[in-house]
Order: sequence, then C-alpha cells, then structure tokens
Amino acid sequence: MNNKEVIVNQVEEKTRNVVLNGGIVHANVHHHEVLDKNVFRDQKFDILVSIFCLEGACSTYDEYVKAFNNIILLIRPGGCLILGSVIEDTTYNSGITKIGNPKIFSVLYLSEKQIFNCIEATGLFDMSTIRKYSLESVMFLMVVKKGL
Ligand SMILES: C[S@@+](CC[C@H](N)C(=O)[O-])C[C@H]1O[C@@H](n2cnc3c(N)ncnc32)[C@H](O)[C@@H]1O
Repeated sequence: MNNKEVIVNQVEEKTRNVVLNGGIVHANVHHHEVLDKNVFRDQKFDILVSIFCLEGACSTYDEYVKAFNNIILLIRPGGCLILGSVIEDTTYNSGITKIGNPKIFSVLYLSEKQIFNCIEATGLFDMSTIRKYSLESVMFLMVVKKGL
C-alpha cells in the first residue's frame, strides 16, 4: 500500500467511526427543520456535507432553492458547506445494488451557474471562500458561511 492509500484508509476508518458513534438520523430537506427538532433542538454544525442529495430530492429549481435554504440553517456562522452536485444531467449512478443492478437515481438538471446563484442569493456565504473541483458531470465545492 502506498502512502496515499494508507491516508485514505485512515480517513475512511475515522469517518466510519464518526458515523457509527453519531448514528444515522432521518433528514428531510423539504422541511424548514431538516432534522427532528425534538432531538437536535436548534443545533448548528461546523460542517454540512451534502453529496448529490438536493438534486435527487428536488424536481424543480424553485424546490431546489427552498431545500438549499433549509439545509444551510444547520450550519453555524463561520461553518462550512461541502456540496457535491450532479451537473447538467438527469441521472446519477450510485453503484450496484445487492442483486447486481446499477443503482440509478433521477436527478434535477442543474448548471454550475444555477448552483452558484443559489448560494450567492442567500447572502449568507463569503463567496470569496468558494473552492470548486469539477469532474465530468459532477462538481464539488466548499464555501464558508459568514461569521456573526
Ligand atoms: C442520488 S442519491 C445520493 C446518495 C449518496 N450521497 C451518494 O453519493 O451516493 C440521493 C440521496 O438523497 C436522499 N434524499 C431523497 N429525498 C430526500 C429528502 N427529501 N431529504 C433528505 N434526503 C433525501 C436519498 O435518500 C438518497 O440517499
């Protein structure tokens, strides 16, 4: 195993433990309170990671903008959003099911510009902090929420 693989394994193991310790909870991006308020009160988080979720959950751009505005309420001021998006496509292949079929999700067709506009329109993010990484049909970005 080379150095990079060792690091990836360590990160995977650490992430797996964090997930196991924190558990998995139900979320609905269409609700103003995305997480169960009885469990999380008004808790805010340092980092919110959303990977190919919003475009899978939404069928119009209006719905996407509303859902985006819901999820970002979970980030504390100065906290960070990591957003993975399928770009200009209507399907996403998330691997293989247990019986060997491709796991295909229908997703909302979105451009990078629409996503950037959505983030900027909130007025809540420091747009100078955006870091973007694009691959074929997907984009990952990181952006910091403005402080108090
Ligand atoms: C395209 S999949 C992406 C899954 C995973 N992040 C990945 O990269 O393979 C979309 C995900 O959004 C979740 N999802 C769909 N509707 C949702 C909603 N209203 N609120 C929260 N998550 C939702 C689905 O359960 C699914 O796991």
